[in-house]
Amino acid sequence: MSLINRKLEHVEICLYEDVQGKVSTLLEDVVLIHQALPGLSLRDVNTKTRFLGKDLSFPLMVTGMTGGHDELGKVNATIAQVVEEMGLAMGVGSQRVAIERPETAESFRITRKMAPTAPLVANLGLPQVTKGYGTKQFLDAIQMIEADAIAVHLNPAQELFQPEGEPEYPLSALDKLKDISNDLNVPVIIKESGTGISMETARLLDQYGFQLIDVSGQGGTSWIAVEMVRNRRKGNWKMRSSELFAGWGIPTAASIVESRYVIPKGYLIASGGIRTGLDIAKALSLGANLAGMANPVLQHAVKGKEQLKSFFEEVSFQLKAAMLLSGSKNVDSLRKAPIVIWGRLREWMESRGLTLSIYESIRKGA
Ligand code: FNR
Repeated sequence: MSLINRKLEHVEICLYEDVQGKVSTLLEDVVLIHQALPGLSLRDVNTKTRFLGKDLSFPLMVTGMTGGHDELGKVNATIAQVVEEMGLAMGVGSQRVAIERPETAESFRITRKMAPTAPLVANLGLPQVTKGYGTKQFLDAIQMIEADAIAVHLNPAQELFQPEGEPEYPLSALDKLKDISNDLNVPVIIKESGTGISMETARLLDQYGFQLIDVSGQGGTSWIAVEMVRNRRKGNWKMRSSELFAGWGIPTAASIVESRYVIPKGYLIASGGIRTGLDIAKALSLGANLAGMANPVLQHAVKGKEQLKSFFEEVSFQLKAAMLLSGSKNVDSLRKAPIVIWGRLREWMESRGLTLSIYESIRKGA
């Protein structure tokens, strides 16, 4: 199957099949403490933040999804327009397709045309580095959308269960990526794609000098589930194995804690199952700097610009509500707000040797 057809099939499956993981983000185990006397009015709540040197109206980016076909270019254009109007950030999907088939590049370029000032994030995968991509391809991808950063995705689980996939993740790829990153004029974001970053991985990334991480944990779109659907449709032998592993991964909340614990000063994006403004508030109070959302944005974007705008307005209201009720007048105070971590997230931390009191001082100092 061609790369372009696979891109289309992925979007179709994400739109019409049930590919939300059967497991949770564990954000339900984070409680922002209610303040009956918040000392604030709703109009005093300031959700602004900065990302990649630019202002955001609230701390959300649309993480990389698509491009590579005219129809997918239309989706990108809708998202880019809304992101520009609402002061948010956006990543594009993997640009490998445009590097290999330059005639598809317009479906990515359209984002910069529609969002002249928003922070835009280019996207390539680490397996491409293993297979020979170097500085030239990275510069091409960045240039294509005049990107403010480039995300490099890690997706070993998806590659493994993809009918045609072959995960290639030698550590030499990180060495090479480090060299490439020295030739770029924008930062590199390392991102997972729905199965999360562990503290071992975060520590390794930190050692290589990568401190901008999108944890993209479990609890939202499961790429193993997406490939499970494709395996089922093709009658591929990997079908049962992908069913077995559909719940594999690190829940987003656990991934934030693990990454923050080992990179106290890193810039963390929390994505994977972020669905509401309350999720954003919890993720930030737990230790993230920014939240990211993919699949829900796609669902609204295909229904049009106005639909997507109303969705973001609702999310923004929910975030403000959580900030008001927790007495957080701005994003910095939200990130230091009192929280309780209980239930399975607390057990997760205990079993990974992460001390709650130490974590409390790390997250407040981050
Ligand atoms: C993705 N995602 C993704 N990530 C990436 O780095 N490069 C890519 O090309 C894609 N492609 C893609 C297509 C579609 C249709 C979706 C829904 C997602 C992964 C995405 O950025 C995110 O990490 C996960 O989807 C988890 O977030 P949600 O969907 O649970 O909010």
